[in-house]
Amino acid sequence: NIASPGVFILGKIVINGGKRLFGSVCIHGAKNAVLPVMAASLMNEGVTVIRGCPDIADVRAMCGILNHLHCKTDFKKGCLVIDTSMAEYEEIKAEDTKQLRASSVLMGPVLTRFGKVRLAYPGGCSIGSRPLDIHLHALKCLGASWSVSEDFIEMETTGLHPSEITLRFPSVGATENALMAAAAQCGTTVLYNAAKEPEIESLCAYLEKCGAVITGAGTECIRVRGKGVLQSAEFFAKPDRIVAGTYMAAVAACGGSVYLQGVTPSLCRGFLDVFTGMGMDIRMEGEAMLVQMYHRPVNLHKICTGAYPDFPTDMQSMVLSVASVGEGTLILKEQIFENRFKTVPWLKKMGADITLSGDSVLVKGVETLKGSEVYGEDLRGTAALITAGLAAQETTVIHDADYILRGYMDLCENLKGLGAEIEWENS
Ligand code: UD1
Repeated sequence: NIASPGVFILGKIVINGGKRLFGSVCIHGAKNAVLPVMAASLMNEGVTVIRGCPDIADVRAMCGILNHLHCKTDFKKGCLVIDTSMAEYEEIKAEDTKQLRASSVLMGPVLTRFGKVRLAYPGGCSIGSRPLDIHLHALKCLGASWSVSEDFIEMETTGLHPSEITLRFPSVGATENALMAAAAQCGTTVLYNAAKEPEIESLCAYLEKCGAVITGAGTECIRVRGKGVLQSAEFFAKPDRIVAGTYMAAVAACGGSVYLQGVTPSLCRGFLDVFTGMGMDIRMEGEAMLVQMYHRPVNLHKICTGAYPDFPTDMQSMVLSVASVGEGTLILKEQIFENRFKTVPWLKKMGADITLSGDSVLVKGVETLKGSEVYGEDLRGTAALITAGLAAQETTVIHDADYILRGYMDLCENLKGLGAEIEWENS
């Protein structure tokens, strides 16, 4: 077992910016695809094999929770093996959930396996209030009752059943909970206004391997026909599109030419056009996507975040950093999470010209940023500060940089390999 939730070690990142980036980088497996499959493994009472699994803090934290539920986990060289045959019910306490927002996707599988679940409110990045009403509604439609107290969500059922479920918003996590619980029931569940993210499609592909019949994955109406039992299956994680987008943002801000191994333009739907609009040249060369930028980025007039296939909220902070050194003006509107502009004061300290107003920012691009002491506040915000630090003149120190370990493997080493002067230092 590899229980090590909360691998936080208080690190900082030191960057001497202003270098162009050249070379090739391999994009690791998608965090947001792997985490729900890890949760779903609870339902098959057997062995699940996840290949291409990134060794990141969120995956380790989810392993810790599975170990707490008496599952065995073995993680070697990108291959995670989970044995849930001996799983036993336990409540999932705050110490287990506080590092991991995605612990909410355990609700459906734990409820399915044990008929009950008691889960401390999920933690993770503080990028908004992140309520769970849509998850609760979906599982209630499938036959669960629930109650909430100050610290815990409790659900129980005397037996789940297929249903018709309409989500008031296409929440990714709620769609995943509904799909997983529905896949383990006998009969057909129809999910309306489902999320369409690629991670939903990959979860459906996994659940199909486990024995469910699913149509409509990737559309707003998904039909799940379950057989009552799920069998063990193997899952191969596709490259992480947000990690690919992070390297694209770094190249857009610094200039250079980088091959993203294993990535295709279709994987980057939703933000590819933002980078091409800003002047990036993007094309396939063999198995890699080549991204090139040889001038200052050109700011687009307006970008709004939205549910897939719109511009992803997870790329918003990084594009804000790129726009800070772009030519012209950008209005960036955040429509998914209400607290996702935490990098703004730090970017301003670095010399960016940004005005924050409600759910939008107005960015007037400046020629260069200057290195500064800044603080990481969430996962993607820390990636955005790295982007800004790489583009800035002189030295940037990012304190509380541990957030980056939640979602990125070897980010500093890979950027160094591309020519950046960047070091991780334990504080
Ligand atoms: C997932 C991703 C996260 C990404 C987000 C949006 C994982 C592990 N995380 O998060 O990286 O930023 O999708 O693409 O896959 N909402 C409610 N009630 C609910 C659930 C959600 O009001 O019950 C709201 C949220 O507050 C937010 C919006 O719906 O405003 C989107 O949230 P959701 O799609 O559920 O995001 P997550 O699944 O948490």
